[in-house]
Amino acid sequence: MTRKASQKETGFSVSSLDHISMAVPNLVKASALYREKFRCHVSDPLEVPEQGIRIAYVYLGNAKLELMEPFGDTSPIAKFIKNNPAGGLHHFCFTTPDVDAAAKSAKDEGMRILGEGSPKAGHHGRKLFFIHPKDTFGSLIEIEEAVSEKN
Ligand code: CO
Repeated sequence: MTRKASQKETGFSVSSLDHISMAVPNLVKASALYREKFRCHVSDPLEVPEQGIRIAYVYLGNAKLELMEPFGDTSPIAKFIKNNPAGGLHHFCFTTPDVDAAAKSAKDEGMRILGEGSPKAGHHGRKLFFIHPKDTFGSLIEIEEAVSEKN
């Protein structure tokens, strides 16, 4: 199918897969699995109290695996672990060059953004948002600002 030059572009550009995120009941044990059974480089655990999670990253070259364990009494991940006690695939994350433009485009096209409906800074300082799984054929998708080439 060819696209006419005059045809309006829809959506927003995804640059790369940043990470796939697993909810796990025990971050130490999950980190050990990837470190010891798959010889991966795994980061030290990082507490992100504002998101109710403790995380570690498994480095896989062009993308990461994010391991998330519930942290604190109000963790949004606690319910997921309650329903999936062994852990499981929680979301995946794409990067985009302009996260505010991406959120506007998603909203304009009728996608629901979780939370307050606009991008928020993550623990790394870059802005991100989540699209409701009902608008993406069942996948919770995180959209995160790409690391700037200038940094
Ligand atoms: Co994520």
